[in-house]
Amino acid sequence: MSSLLVDGIGELVTNDPALGDGPLGLIPDAAVVLVDQQVAWVGRADGAPAADGRLDAGGGAVLPGFVDSHSHLVFAGDRAAEFAARMAGEPYTGGGIRTTVAATRAASDDTLRATAARLRAEALRQGTTTIEVKSGYGLSVADESRSLRIAFEVSPESTFLGAHLVPAEYAGRTDDYVALVCGEMLAAAEPYARWVDVFCERGAFDADQSRAVLAAGIARGLAARVHANQLAAGPGVRLAVELGAASADHCTHLTGADVDALAGSETVATLLPGAEFSTRSPYPDARALLAAGATVALATDCNPGTSYTSSMAFCIALAVREMRMTPPEAVWAATAGGARALRRSDVGTLRPGARADLVVLSAPSYLHLAYRPGVPLVRQVIHNGVVT
Ligand code: NIG
Ligand code: FE
Repeated sequence: MSSLLVDGIGELVTNDPALGDGPLGLIPDAAVVLVDQQVAWVGRADGAPAADGRLDAGGGAVLPGFVDSHSHLVFAGDRAAEFAARMAGEPYTGGGIRTTVAATRAASDDTLRATAARLRAEALRQGTTTIEVKSGYGLSVADESRSLRIAFEVSPESTFLGAHLVPAEYAGRTDDYVALVCGEMLAAAEPYARWVDVFCERGAFDADQSRAVLAAGIARGLAARVHANQLAAGPGVRLAVELGAASADHCTHLTGADVDALAGSETVATLLPGAEFSTRSPYPDARALLAAGATVALATDCNPGTSYTSSMAFCIALAVREMRMTPPEAVWAATAGGARALRRSDVGTLRPGARADLVVLSAPSYLHLAYRPGVPLVRQVIHNGVVT
């Protein structure tokens, strides 16, 4: 057993209102004691128990590690030229997914593994201690199965997204492709997957096809999450709620009925403002979701097409500036909200018993994450009790 005292904390975000002020449960002049992989104690520094080791936060703010509940890290190549074309006025349609599918199929396991590991490490350096990772650029039995294996090496929160798009060889035969996804492909991927996801959108999969994919995954013990209402209003959000999905992701184009459905459910609305930034699209109406009482999470959507960022701090800044979330709402959404979207109670909080995942900022308050956009404020990360 080994213990570590983190003190010199200017402001501690616990995300537990019982432990401190406001919804973030803020404690000033705080300390945290970690024992092995768990938080053992939090409170005012003057009452801290002794520990074997000590880390001085130097007056910086300390937060729970970020929980990025939506990423696509298993792919090859990039689409910088597509991004440049968009910035020159081209719209995003989703068709570029096929470019990444071709590059991914042509890549070796080691190339895919190296990219996924590099991006995971990049995210960790920026404070992300829990990350969900999807497949979805293989779209064949063999390529989805190896994508899932690699995703699972990077994170236990791995998601089968065989229904990302209909691959070219199935053009005009979407129902045949859905049958493959629900049958052989799911069977090959499932041992490495916790979640099943589908891109429910015109041009990808309609409500019935999406329902079939999610139901097949659920029948095999996976839990559901949905790419919903990204490019237009549609059935995705309501399907996610109907099937008890943990999360409906994107939520860019919502009707009042979609907002009400989310607010009346356990399904988290996961907003991905990096995608709107990089596709120059309108941002989701976070205020309507929050006003209705929906649970909101923020995630990066890190992928080579719509959002090639691994920075949760950037997403917090976008959420505050572009979606009018308050800084506490945005920080909560990037930590506790992400944990809800992954149905995890051990991360996204710094209460006793939580996993020892925390971020030390070189800034006195969490407010600086939005106030100082683009500045690398993460000074130190502790992941699962290990100082990285
Ligand atoms: O979440 N919209 C579907 N999937 C990804 C984009 C994939 C891509 O363009 O490569 C997303 O934005
Ligand atoms: Fe996505």
